[in-house]
Amino acid sequence: MKNITLGTPLSPSATKVMLLGSGELGKEVIIALQRLGVEVVAVDRYENAPGHQVAHRAHVINMADGAALRALIEKEKPDVIVPEIEAIATDMLVQIEKEGKVRVIPTARAAQLTMNREGIRRLAAETLWLPTSPYKFADSLEEMIAATSAIGFPCIVKPVMSSSGKGQSKVDNAGEVKAAWDYAASGSRVNQGRVIVEGFIDFDYEITQLTVRAIGENGETETHFCEPIGHVQVHGDYVESWQPMAMSALALQRSRDTAKKVTDELGGLGIFGVELFVKGDQVWFSEVSPRPHDTGMVTMCTQRFNEFELHARAILGLPVDTTLRAPGASAVIYGQMDEKGIAFNGVADALRVPESDIRLFGKPESFKKRRMGVALANGKDTDEARTRAKLAASKVIPVKL
Ligand SMILES: Nc1ncnc2c1ncn2[C@@H]1O[C@H](COP(=O)(O)OP(=O)(O)OP(=O)(O)O)[C@@H](O)[C@H]1O
Ligand SMILES: [Mg+2]
Repeated sequence: MKNITLGTPLSPSATKVMLLGSGELGKEVIIALQRLGVEVVAVDRYENAPGHQVAHRAHVINMADGAALRALIEKEKPDVIVPEIEAIATDMLVQIEKEGKVRVIPTARAAQLTMNREGIRRLAAETLWLPTSPYKFADSLEEMIAATSAIGFPCIVKPVMSSSGKGQSKVDNAGEVKAAWDYAASGSRVNQGRVIVEGFIDFDYEITQLTVRAIGENGETETHFCEPIGHVQVHGDYVESWQPMAMSALALQRSRDTAKKVTDELGGLGIFGVELFVKGDQVWFSEVSPRPHDTGMVTMCTQRFNEFELHARAILGLPVDTTLRAPGASAVIYGQMDEKGIAFNGVADALRVPESDIRLFGKPESFKKRRMGVALANGKDTDEARTRAKLAASKVIPVKL
């Protein structure tokens, strides 16, 4: 992998990458790949997804349908497949990877293990012996009653197949268990009715430790760490993030040791978002995304190379540089209404906030709590950056024309 050759898009020499999932994170990965002259095929479950709008070709398929996925891969013949979401027929990716014609990022096994909370949790806690919240799995209300009383209250209930806080709730006492079960069943992606019950960790703060596996000068895989990202989650979904998060030296060291163990085990090339809870010097592993992380959007204003550029470089076998340039923050812009083709007032006001920037994702349909854009800002420290990012986000007003 030492001497990477990159081709010309839309010619026989093209280096071809297929994104499975083309949301706002995929869109930025695609832009980074486009800048390196890569031919990009963007796939999503709906038309005109953010990444579709910046790719060479766009396809709409059900990515959880293994046969449809295989047919498209055989038609497009990418060199590299980059999963951007969890809800993919990962068993098919495992098969396709075995056939040896295409690389899956970081590996098909990593995509498979992380799409299901059970896979990654058991790996982290029972194979790698990393500290995690106490947990139990349940397949029925009866099992969940037993699991919650074994774990104790408060606890957190999540469908094993879900993301962005869907179907997740905090349970404070036995009287709330049934409602949490019903809510979990409604928020589960595929496997209706299996949940994880986690003991509630009363952390001081939580971070995303972006970790990049890339090829070094000697051809070996090296691990690089970005500065830690602090973030605030509401109902399991991120609302603001900032970088760097101030941490004790020991907590940072433990975070990176944990991130190294998990990413070494998952293998392959690319960026990972390792989610950790921190209390004093104590660190718990929560989960990991084998891809850019939503809280990492802040790196678009903080790092010399943002998380999407790092991912693009790493998966192509190119060197990476995780240097922080300036403290910064991100704040989410929500749709605030259920409408198609909405517009945004106040963008100019937002951009008048000092050292700010805006991304509007171009999603064709808005929901009240759908992430439609993000405000970014720098400052002398992360406190100033957070204030500015939130101010800029608040200036952007979704409207129906
Ligand atoms: N055991 C726990 N103790 C305390 N807080 C928790 C626990 N599990 C989850 N949370 C809170 O809920 C948030 C979302 O949980 P988690 O990351 O497991 O869900 P998710 O649906 O995968 O979210 P996302 O896809 O946005 O990362 C966490 O970032 C944390 O703030
Ligand atoms: Mg999470």
